Amino acid sequence: MEIKVSKNVREMPIEVLVISKYEDEDTHFDFVNKYVVEKDKFEGKFGQTYLIHTLGNLSADKILVIGCGKRDEFNQNKVREITSKAIKKLNQIKAKKAAFDFDTNIDYGKQAAIGAMIADYSYDKYKSEKSHHLDEIIFANCTEDSIKEGLVIGEAMKFTRDLANTPAQLATPERLAEIAKNINGIETKIYEKTEIEKMGMGAFLAVGQGSVNPPKFIHMQYKGINPKKRIAIIGKGICFDSGGLDLKPASSMLTMKDDMSGAACILGVMQALVKLKPEIEVHGIIAACENMPSGSSYKPGDILTAKNGKTIEVDNTDAEGRLTLADALCYACDLNVDEVIDIATLTGACMVALGTFASGIMGNDKELISDLIKTGEESGERFWEMPMFKEYFDSMKSDIADMKNTGSRNGGASAAGLFLKEFVDDKTKWAHIDIAGTAFLDKPQKEFIAGSTGAGVRTLINYLTK
Ligand code: BES
Ligand code: MG
Ligand code: ZN
Repeated sequence: MEIKVSKNVREMPIEVLVISKYEDEDTHFDFVNKYVVEKDKFEGKFGQTYLIHTLGNLSADKILVIGCGKRDEFNQNKVREITSKAIKKLNQIKAKKAAFDFDTNIDYGKQAAIGAMIADYSYDKYKSEKSHHLDEIIFANCTEDSIKEGLVIGEAMKFTRDLANTPAQLATPERLAEIAKNINGIETKIYEKTEIEKMGMGAFLAVGQGSVNPPKFIHMQYKGINPKKRIAIIGKGICFDSGGLDLKPASSMLTMKDDMSGAACILGVMQALVKLKPEIEVHGIIAACENMPSGSSYKPGDILTAKNGKTIEVDNTDAEGRLTLADALCYACDLNVDEVIDIATLTGACMVALGTFASGIMGNDKELISDLIKTGEESGERFWEMPMFKEYFDSMKSDIADMKNTGSRNGGASAAGLFLKEFVDDKTKWAHIDIAGTAFLDKPQKEFIAGSTGAGVRTLINYLTK
């Protein structure tokens, strides 16, 4: 789908013209006011749609009227939602070309482009019958720049969703490393198993040791001109989470190819940074491996030593994400960056607490957390702060090591956060985002089809380019 900008589309001969209709207001088109508004009582409530053939009365063959709600309540997030709605409708009627004429003074291009790309997304690479896609859409009265920015974010989300939707048989640690190496404008170093051993990443290595696919530690670097800040972003990169010897039941294992959604997010963000060129230094870090049961797997009761020397008694091999992140966090802090943000499909407990509607967020710096929450709101993603009370750590105390990797089932998202905190030094501002509930949908939700959502991509790009 190509996205273009035009000054005026009202008189354009086009297959479908999409127009806005606010509550208690007429549109710019007498034809629409007479038939759709007066006769058919279309109110223009937010999200309502009405498709009408113009039968030669207007230059467009069809008009798709989109309800925008009250004009003074219209905002960027609503632009994205209604554009998505319109695109889904256009694809349903198998339209090939459409123009959008939103009657608003806000420069809506960025969110419209993102909304269009979210809605036009399908994952049908392996299906004989492909879904319908528009060839071209044109937006009127918005700037080229805002559309361009939206396209970069839309493309990053598509990239991330494609990667997280890819079956684990293909999206292996090696494949993630290859993708990282091939991002133009990014400097990438891949650490192989022996080098990971040399770095002392005993926690990460243990998780990957049961798989025939070797682990890869990926360090990408984007360096803008005159960097004002240095930030590390870490993505959980478990290419498949079977649970390990503490094997998951079949129903929970079914979607575990998505356990590298954090890593896919980081890869999407890194390639977007090259295009947006913010004045900042960003380190993208992924400890990629598979959590598999086998004769060489790590075992409950094993004691692991992380990069910072702390020891961990393995209580449950299915709490593997925090082990890989522990070493990645140590590595990131050693880079002496100002901020570290990790994003991970970390705990089922977070999904139980917040459902699929919000990601959990916690960390050691109030300002960083509230900045991310605010950027999320503006980007159309919800983050909800989870508590970090020290008592959540109590059940992870071990008699034979510095800590265990799990404890009580209660408060699981916060406990995981406190575990991670053990591997962050005091000088580094840190935020942890748990996307277990938001990264992958069982059924369609709002603008999204089932499968990967690209959770975190929009917010991280907007945060890093602010
Ligand atoms: N990858 C899972 C968490 C997860 C669950 C992600 C559901 C997406 C959807 C993680 O590695 C895991 O297995 N966590 C365990 C931790 C437990 C053993 C303490 C969990 O949440 O059950
Ligand atoms: Mg697990
Ligand atoms: Zn996992």
